[in-house]
Amino acid sequence: MSAAVLLLGSALLGAACGIAGIGGDDGGALANPPDTPATTRLLIPELLEPTMIDGVARYHLTIGESSHDFGDGRRADTRSYNDASILGPTLRWNTDDFVAIDVTNNLPETTTTHWHGADVPAEDDGGPHSRIEAGQTWTADFRVIQPAATLWYHPHLMGTTAEEVFAGAAGLIIVDDDNPATTDLPSTYGVDDIPVILQDREFTPDGQLAFELDDDDNGDLNPELTVNGTMDAYTTVPAGPVRLRLLNGSQARVYELSVDNGSMVKIASDGGYLAGPVPLETLTLAPGDRAEIIVDTSDGGAVLLDEAFGRVLELRPDPTLPTAEHPPAQLATIDPITPDMIDRDRTFQLGEVGGGWGINGQQMDMSRIDETVDFDDIERWTVNVGEGVHSFHIHQTQFQILEVDGEPPPPEDAGWEDTVLVTDDQQVVVAARFNTYANPDVPYMFHCHILDHEDTGMMGQFRVVGP
Ligand code: C2O
Ligand code: CU
Ligand code: CU
Repeated sequence: MSAAVLLLGSALLGAACGIAGIGGDDGGALANPPDTPATTRLLIPELLEPTMIDGVARYHLTIGESSHDFGDGRRADTRSYNDASILGPTLRWNTDDFVAIDVTNNLPETTTTHWHGADVPAEDDGGPHSRIEAGQTWTADFRVIQPAATLWYHPHLMGTTAEEVFAGAAGLIIVDDDNPATTDLPSTYGVDDIPVILQDREFTPDGQLAFELDDDDNGDLNPELTVNGTMDAYTTVPAGPVRLRLLNGSQARVYELSVDNGSMVKIASDGGYLAGPVPLETLTLAPGDRAEIIVDTSDGGAVLLDEAFGRVLELRPDPTLPTAEHPPAQLATIDPITPDMIDRDRTFQLGEVGGGWGINGQQMDMSRIDETVDFDDIERWTVNVGEGVHSFHIHQTQFQILEVDGEPPPPEDAGWEDTVLVTDDQQVVVAARFNTYANPDVPYMFHCHILDHEDTGMMGQFRVVGP
């Protein structure tokens, strides 16, 4: 035990160096004190077991009001699923399974629940049209047709998404498949396969959540970091490869993550496994993004760091826990979408519109369909930004990033994505296939996942028609 403490000490000294370069525009972030061990055990959202009925994995979620101690002994009013103090249970789906999810709204007002990153029919997607009135239940049912990935769910009513997610209403979805290359990777939930939901928050002097919508370039950056609703968190892990399923569930903040006293290898992006593991010094995670990384803690501990906050999560190895394997050289086959395959081009200009934000000069209008996509087409979407920081997200599909300012993406961004960071004066080109579901009557959304921007109009609607 004393040896572990000693090693931990040296890791934390490293952390102190890592945060020396805190920049100015960090929203006044409060760094966790790097010279002392983390104080609070990481909360691990419970796994929700489905009930199997006639071959369908049935889940029940309820969204409602709750309260939560973020780590300082006070209770703040929150919103959550299934009466958790914060966030919601983790859903675990298997590829090819039929799932049905009943979502009951116990809030005093209308909400929705969206399956971010899931390839599902438009009527099951849970976007702003899938309203669940107070006291009502809405059911989504679909077959899981995508490979293993880390997805998430959250409310998506027009105009209130930021506040609901900030208040704690969100949860993780893990999709598993039988990809033989990945069977020996860490996959024991909460032990060597850890959900890491990053959310920055602000509190009033009496410890309540202080929500604010900020329509400036960055959206609202909050000064306190919470991981799974825990401030200054540590968790006990095996001494070896540990999988972290990172989700940026923040209102607006982009994280720059690194690992101290250990190594970081990215194995999966939004839509699932990369072709192979990519060792990284820094990982950028924009709002809505997920990444799976393997952190090696066999040197006696590791600390996940962020530029603005310093320590994000301290991993404390327990050498008595069994260890999984490191990733093999090949994880998945990603067939590139090449220019000759493109059926149609579209261009999206993200910028300020009428005192808020918009796309192609227009703010979101629930009664206007912006784009109609032909079923089975492969489309190339060019996203241009004049001003601001944006996290461009497309529902239903996973895309490939073809170019960032004319250059191909680095290997860590060369997998399947549903959300991509696009900042000042950048141009990002992505390509997607629309070959799974069509519905002429119900649209999917595309929008900025900086929730302040989304809620102030930076969203549009597309539908898929045919075949
Ligand atoms: Cu996280 Cu429209 O989605
Ligand atoms: Cu989404
Ligand atoms: Cu934006």
